[in-house]
Amino acid sequence: MSIDELVTTAAALVAPGQGILAADESTGTMEKRLVAEGLESTEETRRRYRELIVSTPGLGEWISAVILFDETIRQSSKDGTPLQKVAASNNVIPGIKVDKGAKQLAAAPGEKVTEGLDGLRERLEEYVQLGAKFTKWRAVLNIGDHLPTPAGVHTNAHALGRYAALSQEAGLVPMVEPEVLMDGSHTLQRAEEVTTDVLAQVFTELRKQNVVLEGIVLKPNMVVAGAECPQQPSVDEVAEATVRALRRTVPSAVPGIAFLSGGQSDEQATVHLDAINRRGPLPWQATFSFGRALLAPTLHTWAGKDENVDAAQRVLAHRAKLNAAARQGEYDPSLEGK
Ligand code: 13P
Repeated sequence: MSIDELVTTAAALVAPGQGILAADESTGTMEKRLVAEGLESTEETRRRYRELIVSTPGLGEWISAVILFDETIRQSSKDGTPLQKVAASNNVIPGIKVDKGAKQLAAAPGEKVTEGLDGLRERLEEYVQLGAKFTKWRAVLNIGDHLPTPAGVHTNAHALGRYAALSQEAGLVPMVEPEVLMDGSHTLQRAEEVTTDVLAQVFTELRKQNVVLEGIVLKPNMVVAGAECPQQPSVDEVAEATVRALRRTVPSAVPGIAFLSGGQSDEQATVHLDAINRRGPLPWQATFSFGRALLAPTLHTWAGKDENVDAAQRVLAHRAKLNAAARQGEYDPSLEGK
């Protein structure tokens, strides 16, 4: 795989007018989401749900790519077509989450570090065979009185560097995801300081570890105040803080930034993405890689019933379309009309 191919894939992932769908919930997280809707989490329920997602009519118009979970990339549709092929034939590039989750970091109470580097080279080779074109690795940073610590930021940034270099070696574009969580009562200003520091250290590690910046996608949090913060910022304040943090840390060699939604409501995530793009021109594409903000209403509408598949697919297509407008700074709230 040449660098040119990585660069071409990265550009396709963040193509104008489109964004990325994160449908890579681990089995544990998927169980939580299904149980919350009163459904049992079985391999078959998860398969039916993921088939509904990747076969949504017209999805490829607004969605460039979908991130899958290990179980999903091995599953097939009812008629026996591998789900990654269903996505690809719907003009949606299939990718794969390759981290093994955030675990307690030793000697650092309250900190987590993402695991999954051992054996990753071999797993990546298999994912190439299974049809993946890109990968994702999520690091998680908590804000608290004494968090994150230098050890927490450094170990997670270092692991993102190791992962990104291995992924590019395998010919897969890495989606580098350092997520500063919105849990807690911290202010917008504190979220901006922490996000700026985390991103600066991530890019230092990517450079030290010879990652080709033109062949990655960054998947950061938007800079928002903690969910429990009594002083919630305006939409413009969120957009301003987010763009400032990114401009200070993300080299313009990076083709695109695809935000996670991180627990914001679906409409809030869309409004923020729109405001960020209205502050352009920006040095990179600024798009979405939403999980919950695209899929929560989809899962709720489906409710596990075959007769609801069409309605659930319409809900997903609708949110995808609104976010595709927002990533151009062309969202109009009147389009929400349900
Ligand atoms: P959310 O948009 O629900 O935060 O999910 C995106 C994601 O892929 C988290 O790893």
